[in-house]
Amino acid sequence: MPGPESLFTEGSTLQVAWGDGHRSIFDAVWLRDNCPCPECRHESGQRLLDSVAIPDDLALTSAHQDDGSIVAAFTDGHESRFDPAWLRAQLEGAPPRRTLWDASLELPVERFDAVAPGGDALRRWLAAVDELGFAILTGGPIESGTVTRVAELFGYVRETNYGRLFDVRSVVDPTNLAYTGLALGAHSDNPYRDPTPTLQLLHCLSSSAGGGENTLVDAFRVAQDLDPEGFELLARRPLRFRYRDDDTELEAEHPVLSLDARGELQAVHFNTRSAAPSPDLPREWYDAYRMFGRMLGAPEYQIRFMLDPGDLFIVDNLRVLHGRTGYTEAGDRHLQGCYADRDGLRSRLAVLRRETIDELFRTFRERGHGAYLGEPVSIVEHSLQTAHLAEQDGAHPTLVAAALLHDYGHLIHDLPEDSAEHGVDTAHEDVAHAFLARHFGPEVVEPIRLHVAAKRYLCAVDPLYLSELSPASLLSLELQGGPYGEQEVAEFERSPHAEDAVRLRRYDDAGKVSGAATPDLEHFRPALEAAAR
Ligand code: OGA
Ligand code: ZN
Ligand code: ZN
Repeated sequence: MPGPESLFTEGSTLQVAWGDGHRSIFDAVWLRDNCPCPECRHESGQRLLDSVAIPDDLALTSAHQDDGSIVAAFTDGHESRFDPAWLRAQLEGAPPRRTLWDASLELPVERFDAVAPGGDALRRWLAAVDELGFAILTGGPIESGTVTRVAELFGYVRETNYGRLFDVRSVVDPTNLAYTGLALGAHSDNPYRDPTPTLQLLHCLSSSAGGGENTLVDAFRVAQDLDPEGFELLARRPLRFRYRDDDTELEAEHPVLSLDARGELQAVHFNTRSAAPSPDLPREWYDAYRMFGRMLGAPEYQIRFMLDPGDLFIVDNLRVLHGRTGYTEAGDRHLQGCYADRDGLRSRLAVLRRETIDELFRTFRERGHGAYLGEPVSIVEHSLQTAHLAEQDGAHPTLVAAALLHDYGHLIHDLPEDSAEHGVDTAHEDVAHAFLARHFGPEVVEPIRLHVAAKRYLCAVDPLYLSELSPASLLSLELQGGPYGEQEVAEFERSPHAEDAVRLRRYDDAGKVSGAATPDLEHFRPALEAAAR
């Protein structure tokens, strides 16, 4: 985060002008309520201060910067010190990670054996659920109970009237059409429960030769294409859902499209089997409902795949609707299903991301204090300076992350730091790319992979750049292949990440100042968190 350029108080507010041109306003009551001092906040992170007791007429008496903090004094006599980066992070919030999809999506698939031990593959699998609303796991055990075992990799099973897990196969006297060989249109499971389960898992124990393919559709994507009047009707009118059997009577009401407090789509409830619409619903509502249902079944939105025994999929039940094609009841198709909670999955994912960043920082601390390639700074100092320059330049968090990590390859290759003097190119950009691609997307790792190419490019197109390179950088330039030729220049410019790679390169070259002041590694955690897969 860029630091504050200036601040002043006006009425009951603190106004901050940030280094990148942003301006923000904090109300005195908000600041008082969020004081981080030990009197106001417990070390667990929970608030000790009673928000309700803040005086109605609270105002600021003064605010100034002191030793990197913002100090605010209040009319109730209290004084608070805020970390500017923390204040700025509160304004920005976590960026949304959702990607809407249609039939052209490439299926997110991981192998059971890779995911089960936890770690990177589990994180990638959970990240796919968070981003796309579903993910597939192949090659699991063909054993009863596997479905709840998978739920326990990230959270807790949610038991329902169907049990801790339920068997999906055709039976005599079914209580649910799922327990027949009939096709099931795209639906949300259990919309008659309040709250509706947010995750569903289905694991295949045996498949049928005669049909029974699974279908999925991103109902948020489809809702985007509804006509606005239809959308409005489906969002404003509640729909009742109902389920009964010998020992269950469940009923709940949800609009087909639920909106959050910001007016944005939050959940879809759609299930023609258990809907119990009120006769008050106007004909126009029914028109929109049927239109939405037809779109949910349209091939341009729907993906279709066959589960083999051992395979499993998980869906965000309030976003991605599932269904199946019909199958011949003579076959012995058998799935097991269970439910779980989405918040638990997101929590597990956030913790896995946090652990990834902890590990990166540990490597910096343990190995980053050595001299850096004949420059007057260590690798940690150089990395922090480069990231700091990116931040001050107002770069996107993914580029700030790239700047911090661009020389990570130097920390994890096993060649001596003075390799260049012995005529060895460490290819540290490729080492870093290969390692970091497990954790970050192309916006982070491509500029890193290209940061040496960007140097060769700049040497070709900018004579001044070449003349200002440090002696160590000139030495490695030769090993790296020297300035680009005309054709290589053109090729470099065609890369979608060329511009970021050049920006990164300029921060990189400027980040070699002995003793320059920078924030510490922790300061960059929010940027890494925002950029991590
Ligand atoms: C279900 C269901 C799909 C299938 O049981 O909720 O939708 O493939 N089953 O049988
Ligand atoms: Zn279902
Ligand atoms: Zn560097």
